[in-house]
Amino acid sequence: MIAEVDKDACIGCGACPEFCPEVFKMEDDGLATAYTNPVPSEVEAAAKDAADGCPVDAIHVN
Ligand code: F3S
Repeated sequence: MIAEVDKDACIGCGACPEFCPEVFKMEDDGLATAYTNPVPSEVEAAAKDAADGCPVDAIHVN
């Protein structure tokens, strides 16, 4: 599974690293990035939760 953050959509709310710090982190620009790809199988559910929890649907997993 690949996780992507759409930086044009991210508003920097900071939720995704709370859901899944193994895959998402905040960068110096204040926006999130997915820094672990492919997503390890043991955190796929958490990465999907992060995608579902993003208030602006900026995270895409597939
Ligand atoms: Fe940005 Fe959504 Fe994460 S707004 S910080 S991608 S939860």
